[in-house]
Amino acid sequence: MAAIPILKTKALGKSFNGGLETNTGINDVHIEINEGEFTIIMGNSGSGKSTLLYLLSGLDQPSTGEIFLNNTPIHKLDEKAITLFRRNHIGFVFQEHNLISELTLRENILIVGYLTKQDRKVVQTRTALLMEELEIETMADRLPSQVSGGERQRCAIARALINTPKILMADEPTGSLNSASSKKVLSCFKKVHKEGQTILMVTHNPQSACYGNRVLFIQDGKVIDRLVFESQQGAEQRHEVLLQWLRSLGW
Ligand SMILES: Nc1ncnc2c1ncn2[C@@H]1O[C@H](COP(=O)(O)OP(=O)(O)OP(=O)(O)O)[C@@H](O)[C@H]1O
Ligand SMILES: [Mg+2]
Repeated sequence: MAAIPILKTKALGKSFNGGLETNTGINDVHIEINEGEFTIIMGNSGSGKSTLLYLLSGLDQPSTGEIFLNNTPIHKLDEKAITLFRRNHIGFVFQEHNLISELTLRENILIVGYLTKQDRKVVQTRTALLMEELEIETMADRLPSQVSGGERQRCAIARALINTPKILMADEPTGSLNSASSKKVLSCFKKVHKEGQTILMVTHNPQSACYGNRVLFIQDGKVIDRLVFESQQGAEQRHEVLLQWLRSLGW
């Protein structure tokens, strides 16, 4: 079966004007992400990973180039249209969970579903299903401050998935977690990927990157190389292949 591209960019660029100088965040990026892929973005600090993800998710506007998400040219959408588009097509998980502190975990998920035109019953059923799947159903009625960092982040994933987005994006989703919590959060990503969810995740951690099936390496705002894991490669083998590749790129 031919791969279906969900996300495509052409000559994507972003510069920041900071006083006297212009900073180039992203420069001439051409990427294509197919349905069902779990793509990882790696690169040194300041290489442009977050900038790229923010452009791809419509959180920021490019200076040049084009972005097509599900065949929609999102670089052409105005603010109102992009907000609506994001709500229905993109799930985003930040490094810090960004949950509403006054709402319970369940309410944090429900509220995002209620923003769409879906039937409330459908949203409630899907919320319960996601909480169960991400193993946070027993703490559904607690506030974010009453659960662990990993549990908060799993709630943030459920919230990002509530409107069945075409793509789930995450910027260092385990960046503020200890290794046990990170593992659990990454297993959740793996689980939803197995069920067909397309994922794009930024990480600086090679171990986390092994959860994906493809890695893009970004340097000075450009994607300079790509690595595709073989499906039969086990975790250890992937890790070894990845480290060797990263070393060859001067990591
Ligand atoms: N709003 C901004 N104004 C000016 N320069 C910016 C802005 N945002 C990012 N940059 C610059 O763009 C470059 C890429 O930044 P970005 O945050 O994308 O890096 P990153 O790869 O995500 O780094 P990290 O791993 O530390 O999160 C950096 O040089 C950064 O200083
Ligand atoms: Mg970043």
